[in-house]
Amino acid sequence: MIAARAGTLGGHTAGQLRRLCAVAGLDPTDTDTYADVLLTTLGPAAERPLDLPPPSRTFLSDDHTPVEYSLSFTAGANPALRVLLEPGCGAGSLARGGRAALAAVREMARRWEFSTERLDDLEDLFLPPSPHGPLALWIALELRPGGVPQVKVYLNPAASGPHRAARTVREALGRLGHERAFEALPPADGYPFLALDLGDWEAPRVKVYLKHLDLSAAEAAGLCRTEPGPPAGEVAAFLHTAAGAASASRLDRRPGLTCHSFTETDSGLPSGFTLHIPVRDYVRDDAEALDRARTVLAGHGMDAGPLTRALPAVTGRRPEDGVGLIAYLALAHQRGRPPRVTAYVSSETYAVRPPAPTPERIDAQPVH
Ligand code: TRP
Repeated sequence: MIAARAGTLGGHTAGQLRRLCAVAGLDPTDTDTYADVLLTTLGPAAERPLDLPPPSRTFLSDDHTPVEYSLSFTAGANPALRVLLEPGCGAGSLARGGRAALAAVREMARRWEFSTERLDDLEDLFLPPSPHGPLALWIALELRPGGVPQVKVYLNPAASGPHRAARTVREALGRLGHERAFEALPPADGYPFLALDLGDWEAPRVKVYLKHLDLSAAEAAGLCRTEPGPPAGEVAAFLHTAAGAASASRLDRRPGLTCHSFTETDSGLPSGFTLHIPVRDYVRDDAEALDRARTVLAGHGMDAGPLTRALPAVTGRRPEDGVGLIAYLALAHQRGRPPRVTAYVSSETYAVRPPAPTPERIDAQPVH
Protein backbone atom coordinates (compact mmCIF):
# COMPACT_ATOMS: atom_id res chain seq x y z
CA MET A 1 0.00 0.00 0.00
CA ILE A 2 1.06 3.54 -0.72
CA ALA A 3 1.26 5.71 2.37
CA ALA A 4 -0.92 8.77 1.87
CA ARG A 5 0.37 11.60 4.00
CA ALA A 6 -2.07 13.54 6.14
CA GLY A 7 -2.50 17.15 5.12
CA THR A 8 -1.95 16.44 1.42
CA LEU A 9 -4.34 16.37 -1.53
CA GLY A 10 -3.76 12.62 -1.86
CA GLY A 11 -4.23 11.97 1.85
CA HIS A 12 -7.46 13.93 1.93
CA THR A 13 -9.05 12.46 -1.19
CA ALA A 14 -7.89 8.90 -0.43
CA GLY A 15 -9.64 9.24 2.95
CA GLN A 16 -12.84 10.39 1.23
CA LEU A 17 -12.60 7.52 -1.24
CA ARG A 18 -12.10 4.93 1.51
CA ARG A 19 -15.20 6.11 3.36
CA LEU A 20 -17.19 6.12 0.11
CA CYS A 21 -16.01 2.56 -0.65
CA ALA A 22 -17.57 1.52 2.67
CA VAL A 23 -20.81 3.30 1.75
CA ALA A 24 -20.86 1.48 -1.60
CA GLY A 25 -20.30 -1.89 0.07
CA LEU A 26 -16.76 -2.56 -1.24
CA ASP A 27 -14.61 -4.82 0.93
CA PRO A 28 -11.42 -3.69 2.74
CA THR A 29 -9.10 -5.27 0.14
CA ASP A 30 -10.79 -3.49 -2.77
CA THR A 31 -10.84 -0.30 -0.70
CA ASP A 32 -7.04 -0.48 -0.19
CA THR A 33 -6.54 -1.18 -3.89
CA TYR A 34 -8.67 1.74 -5.02
CA ALA A 35 -7.13 4.20 -2.54
CA ASP A 36 -3.74 3.25 -4.03
CA VAL A 37 -5.06 3.66 -7.57
CA LEU A 38 -6.29 7.16 -6.72
CA LEU A 39 -2.87 8.17 -5.33
CA THR A 40 -0.96 6.66 -8.24
CA THR A 41 -3.23 8.31 -10.79
CA LEU A 42 -2.94 11.75 -9.21
CA GLY A 43 0.84 11.38 -9.46
CA PRO A 44 3.03 14.04 -7.81
CA ALA A 45 -0.06 16.23 -7.13
CA ALA A 46 -1.07 13.69 -4.46
CA GLU A 47 1.83 14.91 -2.31
CA ARG A 48 0.77 18.54 -2.51
CA PRO A 49 0.13 20.07 0.92
CA LEU A 50 -3.45 21.20 1.44
CA ASP A 51 -2.41 24.69 2.48
CA LEU A 52 -1.19 25.35 -1.08
CA PRO A 53 -3.72 26.34 -3.74
CA PRO A 54 -5.10 23.62 -6.06
CA PRO A 55 -2.51 22.15 -8.46
CA SER A 56 -4.30 23.71 -11.44
CA ARG A 57 -7.42 25.76 -12.23
CA THR A 58 -9.07 22.54 -13.45
CA PHE A 59 -12.71 22.84 -14.43
CA LEU A 60 -13.32 19.28 -13.29
CA SER A 61 -14.88 20.72 -10.13
CA ASP A 62 -15.94 24.20 -9.01
CA ASP A 63 -13.24 24.51 -6.33
CA HIS A 64 -10.57 22.99 -8.66
CA THR A 65 -10.12 19.72 -6.79
CA PRO A 66 -8.94 17.35 -9.56
CA VAL A 67 -11.22 14.62 -8.15
CA GLU A 68 -15.01 14.11 -8.18
CA TYR A 69 -17.05 11.13 -6.99
CA SER A 70 -20.32 9.74 -8.24
CA LEU A 71 -22.79 7.13 -7.14
CA SER A 72 -24.78 5.46 -9.87
CA PHE A 73 -28.01 3.82 -8.75
CA THR A 74 -30.14 1.06 -10.27
CA ALA A 75 -33.20 -0.35 -8.52
CA GLY A 76 -32.48 -3.38 -6.35
CA ALA A 77 -28.67 -3.19 -6.40
CA ASN A 78 -25.81 -1.52 -4.53
CA PRO A 79 -24.91 1.78 -6.18
CA ALA A 80 -21.73 1.78 -8.25
CA LEU A 81 -19.03 4.13 -6.94
CA ARG A 82 -17.05 6.01 -9.54
CA VAL A 83 -14.26 8.56 -9.34
CA LEU A 84 -13.35 11.15 -11.96
CA LEU A 85 -9.73 12.35 -11.98
CA GLU A 86 -7.44 14.75 -13.79
CA PRO A 87 -4.16 12.86 -13.69
CA GLY A 88 -2.12 15.61 -15.35
CA CYS A 89 -3.29 18.35 -12.99
CA GLY A 90 0.15 18.98 -11.50
CA ALA A 91 2.04 19.07 -14.80
CA GLY A 92 2.06 22.85 -15.23
CA SER A 93 0.38 23.18 -18.64
CA LEU A 94 -2.51 21.64 -20.52
CA ALA A 95 -0.15 20.07 -23.08
CA ARG A 96 2.05 18.47 -20.43
CA GLY A 97 -1.02 17.53 -18.39
CA GLY A 98 -2.49 15.75 -21.39
CA ARG A 99 0.70 13.77 -21.92
CA ALA A 100 0.88 12.84 -18.24
CA ALA A 101 -2.75 11.74 -18.33
CA LEU A 102 -2.13 9.66 -21.45
CA ALA A 103 0.80 7.99 -19.71
CA ALA A 104 -1.49 7.24 -16.75
CA VAL A 105 -4.04 5.59 -19.07
CA ARG A 106 -1.30 3.49 -20.72
CA GLU A 107 -0.01 2.41 -17.32
CA MET A 108 -3.54 1.31 -16.37
CA ALA A 109 -3.82 -0.56 -19.68
CA ARG A 110 -0.63 -2.50 -18.90
CA ARG A 111 -1.71 -3.22 -15.36
CA TRP A 112 -5.26 -4.36 -16.15
CA GLU A 113 -4.47 -5.70 -19.62
CA PHE A 114 -6.75 -3.71 -21.85
CA SER A 115 -6.16 -2.09 -25.19
CA THR A 116 -5.84 1.67 -25.72
CA GLU A 117 -6.23 1.28 -29.47
CA ARG A 118 -9.44 3.34 -29.69
CA LEU A 119 -7.78 6.19 -27.82
CA ASP A 120 -4.54 5.89 -29.83
CA ASP A 121 -6.60 6.31 -33.02
CA LEU A 122 -7.83 9.70 -31.76
CA GLU A 123 -4.66 11.07 -30.20
CA ASP A 124 -3.90 13.62 -32.95
CA LEU A 125 -7.43 15.08 -32.69
CA PHE A 126 -7.66 15.43 -28.94
CA LEU A 127 -4.07 15.71 -27.77
CA PRO A 128 -2.42 18.03 -30.31
CA PRO A 129 0.93 19.67 -29.42
CA SER A 130 -0.73 22.96 -28.37
CA PRO A 131 -4.17 21.98 -27.12
CA HIS A 132 -7.00 24.43 -26.41
CA GLY A 133 -8.81 24.17 -23.05
CA PRO A 134 -10.61 23.69 -20.86
CA LEU A 135 -9.40 20.10 -20.36
CA ALA A 136 -7.01 17.64 -21.97
CA LEU A 137 -7.83 14.21 -20.58
CA TRP A 138 -9.79 13.04 -17.57
CA ILE A 139 -10.11 9.46 -16.37
CA ALA A 140 -13.20 8.01 -14.74
CA LEU A 141 -12.93 4.73 -12.87
CA GLU A 142 -15.89 2.60 -11.89
CA LEU A 143 -14.75 0.90 -8.71
CA ARG A 144 -16.18 -2.58 -9.11
CA PRO A 145 -15.85 -5.35 -6.54
CA GLY A 146 -12.70 -7.37 -7.34
CA GLY A 147 -10.14 -4.57 -7.52
CA VAL A 148 -10.13 -4.05 -11.30
CA PRO A 149 -11.96 -0.85 -12.25
CA GLN A 150 -13.73 -0.11 -15.49
CA VAL A 151 -12.00 2.76 -17.25
CA LYS A 152 -13.43 5.68 -19.20
CA VAL A 153 -11.52 8.61 -20.68
CA TYR A 154 -12.97 12.08 -21.26
CA LEU A 155 -11.58 14.15 -24.11
CA ASN A 156 -12.07 17.76 -25.20
CA PRO A 157 -13.69 18.24 -28.64
CA ALA A 158 -12.35 21.83 -28.60
CA ALA A 159 -8.75 20.64 -28.20
CA SER A 160 -7.92 21.38 -31.84
CA GLY A 161 -9.78 24.71 -31.69
CA PRO A 162 -13.22 25.64 -30.33
CA HIS A 163 -14.57 26.39 -33.83
CA ARG A 164 -13.56 22.86 -34.87
CA ALA A 165 -15.35 21.03 -32.04
CA ALA A 166 -18.23 19.74 -34.19
CA ARG A 167 -15.83 18.61 -36.93
CA THR A 168 -13.61 16.91 -34.37
CA VAL A 169 -16.56 14.98 -32.93
CA ARG A 170 -17.68 13.92 -36.42
CA GLU A 171 -14.16 12.81 -37.37
CA ALA A 172 -13.69 10.89 -34.10
CA LEU A 173 -17.02 9.07 -34.47
CA GLY A 174 -16.14 8.17 -38.06
CA ARG A 175 -12.73 6.79 -37.11
CA LEU A 176 -14.40 4.62 -34.47
CA GLY A 177 -16.72 3.14 -37.10
CA HIS A 178 -19.78 5.27 -36.31
CA GLU A 179 -20.01 7.05 -39.66
CA ARG A 180 -23.65 8.04 -39.34
CA ALA A 181 -23.62 8.87 -35.64
CA PHE A 182 -22.95 12.59 -35.93
CA GLU A 183 -26.04 13.05 -38.13
CA ALA A 184 -28.11 11.25 -35.52
CA LEU A 185 -27.31 13.80 -32.78
CA PRO A 186 -29.88 16.45 -31.83
CA PRO A 187 -29.11 20.17 -32.18
CA ALA A 188 -26.72 21.53 -29.52
CA ASP A 189 -25.05 24.70 -28.28
CA GLY A 190 -21.70 23.01 -27.79
CA TYR A 191 -19.77 19.76 -27.51
CA PRO A 192 -18.13 19.77 -24.07
CA PHE A 193 -16.83 16.16 -23.96
CA LEU A 194 -16.31 12.97 -25.89
CA ALA A 195 -15.85 9.88 -23.72
CA LEU A 196 -14.55 6.42 -24.53
CA ASP A 197 -14.95 3.18 -22.62
CA LEU A 198 -11.63 1.36 -22.51
CA GLY A 199 -11.03 -2.15 -21.28
CA ASP A 200 -13.29 -4.93 -20.33
CA TRP A 201 -16.80 -3.61 -21.04
CA GLU A 202 -19.60 -5.79 -22.35
CA ALA A 203 -20.32 -3.23 -25.07
CA PRO A 204 -17.72 -0.41 -25.08
CA ARG A 205 -19.30 2.92 -25.85
CA VAL A 206 -18.29 6.21 -27.34
CA LYS A 207 -20.28 8.96 -25.68
CA VAL A 208 -20.90 12.45 -27.01
CA TYR A 209 -21.91 15.18 -24.55
CA LEU A 210 -23.98 18.09 -25.79
CA LYS A 211 -24.66 21.42 -24.12
CA HIS A 212 -28.16 22.97 -24.29
CA LEU A 213 -28.72 26.59 -23.29
CA ASP A 214 -32.09 27.58 -21.79
CA LEU A 215 -33.38 24.03 -21.90
CA SER A 216 -37.06 23.40 -21.09
CA ALA A 217 -38.51 20.13 -19.82
CA ALA A 218 -40.45 19.59 -23.03
CA GLU A 219 -37.34 20.14 -25.15
CA ALA A 220 -35.22 17.85 -22.99
CA ALA A 221 -37.48 14.89 -23.68
CA GLY A 222 -37.26 15.63 -27.40
CA LEU A 223 -33.46 15.43 -27.46
CA CYS A 224 -33.35 11.66 -27.12
CA ARG A 225 -32.43 9.82 -30.33
CA THR A 226 -32.34 6.31 -28.83
CA GLU A 227 -35.07 3.93 -30.01
CA PRO A 228 -36.98 2.99 -28.06
CA GLY A 229 -36.25 5.89 -25.75
CA PRO A 230 -37.48 6.48 -22.22
CA PRO A 231 -41.08 7.72 -21.90
CA ALA A 232 -41.01 11.49 -22.61
CA GLY A 233 -42.90 12.16 -19.38
CA GLU A 234 -40.15 10.48 -17.37
CA VAL A 235 -37.42 12.72 -18.76
CA ALA A 236 -39.51 15.87 -18.24
CA ALA A 237 -40.45 14.82 -14.70
CA PHE A 238 -36.79 14.23 -13.90
CA LEU A 239 -35.85 17.70 -15.08
CA HIS A 240 -38.70 19.23 -13.07
CA THR A 241 -37.72 17.43 -9.89
CA ALA A 242 -33.99 18.06 -10.24
CA ALA A 243 -34.22 21.72 -11.24
CA GLY A 244 -37.20 22.58 -9.02
CA ALA A 245 -39.38 25.61 -9.64
CA ALA A 246 -36.84 27.12 -12.06
CA SER A 247 -37.79 24.38 -14.50
CA ALA A 248 -41.27 25.88 -14.87
CA SER A 249 -39.53 27.94 -17.54
CA ARG A 250 -36.00 27.16 -18.72
CA LEU A 251 -32.64 26.20 -17.26
CA ASP A 252 -31.12 29.67 -17.54
CA ARG A 253 -28.22 29.18 -15.13
CA ARG A 254 -25.56 26.52 -15.74
CA PRO A 255 -26.86 24.60 -18.76
CA GLY A 256 -28.21 21.08 -18.90
CA LEU A 257 -26.19 18.48 -20.82
CA THR A 258 -27.26 15.41 -22.72
CA CYS A 259 -25.07 12.43 -23.45
CA HIS A 260 -25.62 10.11 -26.40
CA SER A 261 -23.79 6.79 -26.37
CA PHE A 262 -23.02 4.68 -29.40
CA THR A 263 -22.30 0.99 -29.16
CA GLU A 264 -23.24 -0.71 -32.42
CA THR A 265 -22.79 0.62 -35.89
CA ASP A 266 -25.68 -0.89 -37.86
CA SER A 267 -28.58 1.38 -36.84
CA GLY A 268 -26.52 4.56 -36.75
CA LEU A 269 -28.58 5.59 -33.71
CA PRO A 270 -27.33 5.97 -30.17
CA SER A 271 -28.15 3.14 -27.78
CA GLY A 272 -28.10 5.34 -24.70
CA PHE A 273 -29.40 8.74 -23.60
CA THR A 274 -28.56 10.63 -20.41
CA LEU A 275 -29.79 13.99 -19.16
CA HIS A 276 -27.48 15.81 -16.72
CA ILE A 277 -28.88 18.61 -14.56
CA PRO A 278 -26.39 20.86 -12.71
CA VAL A 279 -28.57 20.81 -9.60
CA ARG A 280 -26.12 23.01 -7.67
CA ASP A 281 -27.18 26.08 -9.64
CA TYR A 282 -30.88 25.47 -8.99
CA VAL A 283 -30.96 25.05 -5.21
CA ARG A 284 -30.24 27.21 -2.19
CA ASP A 285 -28.04 24.60 -0.48
CA ASP A 286 -27.16 20.92 -0.42
CA ALA A 287 -29.99 20.00 1.93
CA GLU A 288 -32.29 21.03 -0.88
CA ALA A 289 -30.16 19.23 -3.48
CA LEU A 290 -30.27 16.07 -1.36
CA ASP A 291 -34.07 16.34 -1.11
CA ARG A 292 -34.31 16.59 -4.88
CA ALA A 293 -32.02 13.58 -5.29
CA ARG A 294 -34.06 11.58 -2.78
CA THR A 295 -37.29 12.37 -4.62
CA VAL A 296 -35.79 11.27 -7.95
CA LEU A 297 -34.36 8.08 -6.46
CA ALA A 298 -37.57 7.16 -4.65
CA GLY A 299 -39.54 7.75 -7.85
CA HIS A 300 -37.38 5.12 -9.56
CA GLY A 301 -37.63 2.64 -6.68
CA MET A 302 -34.03 3.24 -5.60
CA ASP A 303 -32.72 3.44 -2.04
CA ALA A 304 -31.34 6.91 -1.29
CA GLY A 305 -29.59 5.69 1.88
CA PRO A 306 -26.13 5.40 0.28
CA LEU A 307 -26.30 8.99 -1.04
CA THR A 308 -27.35 10.31 2.37
CA ARG A 309 -24.36 8.47 3.86
CA ALA A 310 -22.02 9.62 1.09
CA LEU A 311 -22.20 13.28 2.09
CA PRO A 312 -20.71 12.86 5.59
CA ALA A 313 -18.12 10.52 4.02
CA VAL A 314 -16.66 13.48 2.12
CA THR A 315 -17.28 16.44 4.42
CA GLY A 316 -17.86 17.41 8.03
CA ARG A 317 -20.03 20.38 7.09
CA ARG A 318 -23.81 20.32 7.24
CA PRO A 319 -25.64 20.13 3.89
CA GLU A 320 -27.46 23.41 4.60
CA ASP A 321 -24.15 25.25 5.11
CA GLY A 322 -23.08 25.24 1.47
CA VAL A 323 -24.04 24.39 -2.08
CA GLY A 324 -22.26 22.32 -4.71
CA LEU A 325 -21.56 19.12 -2.81
CA ILE A 326 -24.09 17.50 -5.14
CA ALA A 327 -22.92 18.93 -8.45
CA TYR A 328 -25.15 17.13 -10.96
CA LEU A 329 -28.02 14.70 -11.03
CA ALA A 330 -28.35 12.52 -14.11
CA LEU A 331 -30.94 10.11 -15.48
CA ALA A 332 -29.53 7.50 -17.86
CA HIS A 333 -31.28 5.13 -20.22
CA GLN A 334 -29.32 2.43 -22.00
CA ARG A 335 -31.44 0.38 -24.38
CA GLY A 336 -32.45 -2.95 -22.86
CA ARG A 337 -31.37 -1.99 -19.34
CA PRO A 338 -33.17 -0.56 -16.34
CA PRO A 339 -32.78 3.22 -15.84
CA ARG A 340 -29.92 4.58 -13.76
CA VAL A 341 -29.80 7.69 -11.60
CA THR A 342 -26.40 9.19 -10.87
CA ALA A 343 -25.45 11.76 -8.25
CA TYR A 344 -22.10 13.55 -8.67
CA VAL A 345 -20.50 14.34 -5.32
CA SER A 346 -17.81 17.02 -5.05
CA SER A 347 -14.68 16.66 -2.97
CA GLU A 348 -14.66 20.29 -1.76
CA THR A 349 -11.01 19.90 -0.84
CA TYR A 350 -10.31 23.58 -1.43
CA ALA A 351 -13.54 25.53 -1.08
CA VAL A 352 -17.24 25.42 -0.22
CA ARG A 353 -19.65 27.63 -2.13
CA PRO A 354 -21.89 29.47 0.36
CA PRO A 355 -25.64 28.89 0.11
CA ALA A 356 -27.44 31.01 -2.47
CA PRO A 357 -28.75 34.24 -0.94
CA THR A 358 -32.37 33.88 0.16
CA PRO A 359 -33.93 36.33 -2.35
CA GLU A 360 -32.63 34.03 -5.09
CA ARG A 361 -34.20 31.09 -3.39
CA ILE A 362 -35.96 29.38 -6.24
CA ASP A 363 -38.56 27.66 -4.11
CA ALA A 364 -39.68 31.05 -2.81
CA GLN A 365 -40.82 31.99 -6.30
CA PRO A 366 -44.30 31.08 -7.46
CA VAL A 367 -44.66 28.21 -9.89
CA HIS A 368 -46.78 29.08 -12.90
N1 TRP B 1 -17.22 20.58 -13.57
C1 TRP B 1 -17.61 20.49 -14.93
C2 TRP B 1 -19.06 20.92 -15.10
O1 TRP B 1 -19.70 21.20 -14.14
C3 TRP B 1 -17.36 19.12 -15.56
C4 TRP B 1 -18.06 17.97 -14.89
C5 TRP B 1 -17.62 17.31 -13.79
C6 TRP B 1 -19.30 17.35 -15.26
N2 TRP B 1 -18.48 16.31 -13.47
C7 TRP B 1 -19.52 16.32 -14.34
C8 TRP B 1 -20.21 17.56 -16.28
C9 TRP B 1 -20.67 15.51 -14.39
C10 TRP B 1 -21.36 16.77 -16.33
C11 TRP B 1 -21.59 15.75 -15.40
O2 TRP B 1 -19.56 21.01 -16.20
